[in-house]
Amino acid sequence: MRKQIAAANWKMNLTYQQGEKLLDEILGAEIELANHQLAIFAVPSPYLLMTRSEVEEESNYEVAAQNCHHKKSGAFTGEVSVEMLHSMNIKYCVIGHSERREYNGETNTMLADKVNLCLENFITPIFCCGEPLSIREAGTQNEFVATQLKESLFHLPAATIKNIVIAYEPIWAIGTGKTASTEQAQEIHQYLRSVIADQYSEAVANEIPILYGGSVKANNAKEIFACPDVDGGLVGGASLVAADFIEIIKALK
Ligand code: 13P
Repeated sequence: MRKQIAAANWKMNLTYQQGEKLLDEILGAEIELANHQLAIFAVPSPYLLMTRSEVEEESNYEVAAQNCHHKKSGAFTGEVSVEMLHSMNIKYCVIGHSERREYNGETNTMLADKVNLCLENFITPIFCCGEPLSIREAGTQNEFVATQLKESLFHLPAATIKNIVIAYEPIWAIGTGKTASTEQAQEIHQYLRSVIADQYSEAVANEIPILYGGSVKANNAKEIFACPDVDGGLVGGASLVAADFIEIIKALK
């Protein structure tokens, strides 16, 4: 079975102490994860080591960075390199979140560089894609997200792209309380898988987890995750509340 993943994206929220407390509460729930299930915490960079040590003893709990720089190293004050993350034993990194595309001008080509650096450093990219409302209203969301995949991922050989996690996050559903319907989520996830199958093969497409993100909550996670092509979620707001994220982890297939 494909990996099923509940990934928390804390974004720029919580103090260090609040973050520690939240992790203690979630891990304290002692949710038994099956081999194919994974819970990931994408935390702010200064909390990476603390989070790594919190989850160290737990099976199937992992830490992710929320971003990395697209250059290897150099005079980029305030940035975090992939090599730094690797040296801290971080195994996942969110790449191309729509907030970074919008506020930091990240382009598909820049994201391809980040993906390459991550893979060279044994870090699994959680690659985000998703359309703005105007594109959804124009009905061209499929072409829009396919282009995001093509320009940032499809240079990879089949053996490598299998190591990617994709997160489909429609921008109009992020932080708005407006979730894509299960039909909308399934339809576009299935479409993304077919684009990967066309470029590579069915076998490759069937191995890549595709997470849904955008107003996933404790009360809708089970229904969304039940879609055959949805392999879990990338969760913002609801991942900041222990009881809610616990329910979301439990909703994994
Ligand atoms: P919300 O769950 O707050 O809508 O955020 C989704 C998101 O952007 C996760 O990366």
